[in-house]
Amino acid sequence: MPRVGLAGLGVMGWWIAANLRKAGHLVAVYNRTREKAERFSKEYGVEVARSPKELADKADVIITMLSDSDAVSSFVGSVMDYVGGKTLVDMSTIHPSVSVKLAQEVSRRGGKMYDAPVIGTSVFAQQAKLTVLLGGPKEGKEAVEDMLKATAQTVVYVGPNGAGLYAKLVNNLMVGVYVAALAEALEFGLKAGLDPNVITEVLSKYTSASPTTAGLKLPKMLNGDYSVQFATKHMRKDLEIIQDEAKGLKSPTLLSSLALQLYRITENMGYGELDYSAVKEVISGKRR
Ligand SMILES: NC(=O)c1ccc[n+]([C@@H]2O[C@H](COP(=O)([O-])OP(=O)(O)OC[C@H]3O[C@@H](n4cnc5c(N)ncnc54)[C@H](OP(=O)(O)O)[C@@H]3O)[C@@H](O)[C@H]2O)c1
Repeated sequence: MPRVGLAGLGVMGWWIAANLRKAGHLVAVYNRTREKAERFSKEYGVEVARSPKELADKADVIITMLSDSDAVSSFVGSVMDYVGGKTLVDMSTIHPSVSVKLAQEVSRRGGKMYDAPVIGTSVFAQQAKLTVLLGGPKEGKEAVEDMLKATAQTVVYVGPNGAGLYAKLVNNLMVGVYVAALAEALEFGLKAGLDPNVITEVLSKYTSASPTTAGLKLPKMLNGDYSVQFATKHMRKDLEIIQDEAKGLKSPTLLSSLALQLYRITENMGYGELDYSAVKEVISGKRR
């Protein structure tokens, strides 16, 4: 079994390390603020590395779960002379371009690097139920997948270096907009006097803003098949009703007013009677 070392005992890294320890993989931890690593060591009985180099000395596989591109660049930079024969697995969410450059340098030094960003918050991490989107060299990926299964319910190999991070950003683009829209929809409903429980039930149980809609609309977008399920003109109309009502309610409509403009353009481009998934053509800038 490879010896695993982990750097970054933050909100996520702590639980990932704990799961790897329970599975018998983890031998050492490093954290910039040493007292966190010492607390972890006391609780889980693994060694504390006092520097990135010491972690690299103790481990064959080095996992990083750090804040951002600068943190990962700085950590990987400081172990670059010791990565020969080792595997680096970066679970942080960072710039794919930065990750790819680091992976190339690691490869020149005789090591391997994977980007392995995760979907799921600390609760998922604690329960070993994360989803990992793995990018990196195909050869040898099975060993990395097996090791990650100690902390993830699902590990999906998505392609070469950087692909895991791009897949993660695709997800976060959607989630970032979705949660902001959720806030806007909630406020609109509250201002209209709806019972918060009704709003919660509609948006969590009955809503069509769900993966089912993605499953329905993504093939239409990819194939340019805008045969009508729900017409653009109707989506435009519904968003206009929301704008009209929101005026009286004094409810902010930042995202829904932007969406209305997008569907107006879709309609002006000739897709009024066709499916509203044709908004994809506005985004990609193609004329019908
Ligand atoms: N939290 C989530 O729900 C979640 C979900 C999915 C993905 N992510 C991603 O996972 C990563 C970690 O998130 P987190 O929530 O665990 O963050 P966090 O709690 O803020 O932990 C960040 C970790 O990075 C270390 N660090 C920061 N800058 C550093 C530097 N320059 N050099 C060395 N170490 C440094 C911190 O060390 P110190 O203890 O010394 O500060 C800490 O261990 C992020 O990229 C985040 O976007 C988070």
